[in-house]
Amino acid sequence: MSQFITENIESGIQILCFDRVEKRNAITLDMYQTLADLLHSAEKNPDIKATLIRGAGGHFSAGNDINEFVEIAQKPEKMEATMAFLQAIATYKKPLIAAVEGRAVGVGATMLLHCDLVLSSREARFQFPFVQLGLIPEAASSYFLPKFVGHQKAFELLVLGETFDAQEAYEMSLINHLCEEGEAYKLALLYAEKVAALPSEAVILSKDLLKFHDQDNVQMTLMREGRIFKDRLRSPEAHQAFAGFLSRNK
Ligand code: COA
Repeated sequence: MSQFITENIESGIQILCFDRVEKRNAITLDMYQTLADLLHSAEKNPDIKATLIRGAGGHFSAGNDINEFVEIAQKPEKMEATMAFLQAIATYKKPLIAAVEGRAVGVGATMLLHCDLVLSSREARFQFPFVQLGLIPEAASSYFLPKFVGHQKAFELLVLGETFDAQEAYEMSLINHLCEEGEAYKLALLYAEKVAALPSEAVILSKDLLKFHDQDNVQMTLMREGRIFKDRLRSPEAHQAFAGFLSRNK
């Protein structure tokens, strides 16, 4: 169990929080595995009706820990924890709700595409900087984004990888509702409580009906992205980009 993930269960809602504030909630392999394990146990627990994901310290998540990319490049089998998390969110049967404040970058943004409800501060900012890092899109974002916003906009978001704001994300239907800064968790909890109060079998069956058309495509995309992503981690382009980020730290 990673010390950087907290779990609280309140009134039938599992609340998972990225709590690595000094690193803007960047996600490590331990954190991925913990998240996957907690989602699996929530799925089996009839008392949990919905899961809410949030970040501590005013940010959602700065995405994958870049230091660990360097490690994974040498030991690709370590990516299993990442894949376990992506599988867990892609196939999660219960409602998944996100509360977004501050930055949502990389997988911190792509995981939102798997959520059922996204509540975000107007001040939140989003980015898919994969190509800038010499990598490729992940978490089935190369499937979901063109479907949501069309090819041209998806190319702009995923290949140029520039930061965009919550209003733009809302207009592209990546967010359900916007709120004032600092209010996203409160609003997400309100929605989680509404969902948790509904007949839970009907909720789970409805989510399945909404998602099942996509499952084969999502699985194929996750596999294909995963294979290419592993190769890209070893590429000179990615090494140069990681070194740039890490030397920036010094
Ligand atoms: N991996 C590892 N460390 C990260 C990180 C990441 N993805 N994102 C942030 N950090 C660390 C920084 O290295 C810094 O550590 P330090 O204090 O030990 O030097 C600390 O978190 C704070 O980051 P900083 O950049 O100073 O904060 P900021 O508020 O100015 O900017 C971000 C926040 C998220 C915009 C910026 O940190 C960023 O762009 N991070 C990289 C995001 C990214 O490319 N993720 C990978 C996607 S595939």
